[in-house]
Amino acid sequence: MVALKDLTIEEKLRLLTGKNEWQTYDANGKLPSLFLSDGPSGLRMQDEKGVVRKATAMPTECVVANTWSVEAARLHGETIASDAAEAGADILAAPGINMKRTPLCGRNFEYYSEDPYLAGQMAKAFIEGVQSNGIGCSVKHFAANNREYDRLFQSSDVDERTLHEIYFPAFEYAIQAKPWTVMGAYNPVNGIYASENKWLLKDVLRGEFGYDGVIVSDWGAVHDTAARVKASCDLEMPYNKNSYDALKAAYEDGRLTEAEIDESVTHLLQLIEKSQNAKKTVRYTKAERHENAVKIAEEGIVLLKNDANILPLKKERVLVTGHYATKPPLGGGGSSFVQTDYEQQALHDLLKASGCETDYEMAICILDNQRSSFYVRGAYEKARRADKVIICVGTDKETEAEGFDRTSLRLHPSQERFITEMSKYNDNLIVVVYAGSAIDMSPWIDKAKAVVFAGYAGEGVNEALASILTGRVNPSGKLSESFPLCLEDTYCGSECGNGFCERYTDGVFVGYRYYDSEGKDVLFPFGHGLSYARTAYSDIKVEKKSKYEYEVSYSVENLSDIPMQEVSQLYVRDVFSSVARPVKELKNFAKTPLGAHKKKTVRLALDKRAFAFYSVENAAWTVENGEFEILVGASSRDIRLQTSIIIEE
Ligand code: BGC
Repeated sequence: MVALKDLTIEEKLRLLTGKNEWQTYDANGKLPSLFLSDGPSGLRMQDEKGVVRKATAMPTECVVANTWSVEAARLHGETIASDAAEAGADILAAPGINMKRTPLCGRNFEYYSEDPYLAGQMAKAFIEGVQSNGIGCSVKHFAANNREYDRLFQSSDVDERTLHEIYFPAFEYAIQAKPWTVMGAYNPVNGIYASENKWLLKDVLRGEFGYDGVIVSDWGAVHDTAARVKASCDLEMPYNKNSYDALKAAYEDGRLTEAEIDESVTHLLQLIEKSQNAKKTVRYTKAERHENAVKIAEEGIVLLKNDANILPLKKERVLVTGHYATKPPLGGGGSSFVQTDYEQQALHDLLKASGCETDYEMAICILDNQRSSFYVRGAYEKARRADKVIICVGTDKETEAEGFDRTSLRLHPSQERFITEMSKYNDNLIVVVYAGSAIDMSPWIDKAKAVVFAGYAGEGVNEALASILTGRVNPSGKLSESFPLCLEDTYCGSECGNGFCERYTDGVFVGYRYYDSEGKDVLFPFGHGLSYARTAYSDIKVEKKSKYEYEVSYSVENLSDIPMQEVSQLYVRDVFSSVARPVKELKNFAKTPLGAHKKKTVRLALDKRAFAFYSVENAAWTVENGEFEILVGASSRDIRLQTSIIIEE
């Protein structure tokens, strides 16, 4: 293996900047070039001419997080790794684990959650899934990249406690899986660009969290290349001649020492060696990859509402409407968009194959953000004669994408109008929403008996939906983000910073932490999701294992005749605290398969972090003695069991 001493200073400098758009430098043939490719919802590999290779369009991360299943997250990673290994990619620019601070963020579909614990566990499993197949991960975007508006320049100004409690932990958990690389964000954090921020990268990521892999800049995120090397950002991507010249000049005039350069070169040599020693595995065939996409979608689709048990469908006359039934949005726009060659199956055809007497009327088609077309007359007539009507609505990659934020949480006005109009012709409306993040459904939700949130679930979305709608699969997904009643109810509303900075004055009160602390109603709370079965929770017990370490056990029982999976959530509340703390915080969770009428005991661990807040004064996680409530819920607002413990000296 090539060592530091085998490289000239020129080669070392070049190694810190990438060979081209996607590859690392080969040091005049001394080293192999590593190929980096997007991304979080499937492989998006571009060749030199910019042609994108076809791959499996997997569910996006919002859907993966809605599974609340670390096994699903691992399978997601393993499946994408098969596409990457087959294509010859070495590193995936994934997963994206930024917090969903506002539902408007254009890239929320690419991120897991508003909760750092949930996002961190999903990320860890995804990385294990990818890397166990010989492909590296680049977990992104460190840190506090929570909106797209002015993402290249606007500073996220966040206090240290909030960074440690909300914006860092998902990365800390992810790092436990030893991702080969971490990608810095575009935005400045507290005034200093993330990819050049010494405190962020060297002191926190490497110092506090012990990360020893390669730190890579986001594409084009570097403004001062000497500063980023000093900050421990090893690799600037993509290659940029001006930046390279500046790097060389900084070395020549002594602003950058050879020792500083060697530190980063060493990280890169270790990465290249790791990649060479890794056995790239194509674990799944193309057909299996598609099956995995369907399976994950089945677990991540969320049944939000089901009045009078209108779902599952029986063998009855069902009218399906909306052009998404035939052309569903598979993912959002930007660098994560995967081009698949899988031919979508129409929802009504799939339902017909399951025994429903289905008819289809497109009726409404969203052409782009602005324009829509209506062909409704036929639909109204058919709706009158149908037993039930499925309306397929949502957003697509024109609305939710990298590079800009949404401006509204509402559906396109013509979709809202269509739902209202259809309710005049049929009482049994089932609305399927394909979208990458929270939707304000208030204007029409009363008109719908059932609402199914498909998310952006990749190329298997309609197959998964058909299984859920007909009850072949019992829905088990739950929301990994809160659905507020309206935009005005969110902390940020339509505020998005002043172009220079955005002050995170909400502190640790993000997502359900905010709605709970303010006592605000929401449309659907964090952790909400229905099933066709009913469950009972009982027998909560807490056993102390050691100081600050506990095991919480409880039973979940399926009271129905059909199998199910129950996502139970463990929250902790600090009853009295010297600092303002959220009403409760998620500290563990489980997804438990339960046969008909079966009961199981769930055992979940709580460690010191479950009770601690980050004290800036002590620069440490701190637990204050006293009472802590232990809450077990079917959602953050459906607490089924409760007890408390006292932590004392
Ligand atoms: C995105 C990254 C992506 C990179 C390469 C950037 O614009 O922010 O998430 O991995 O491009 O496509």
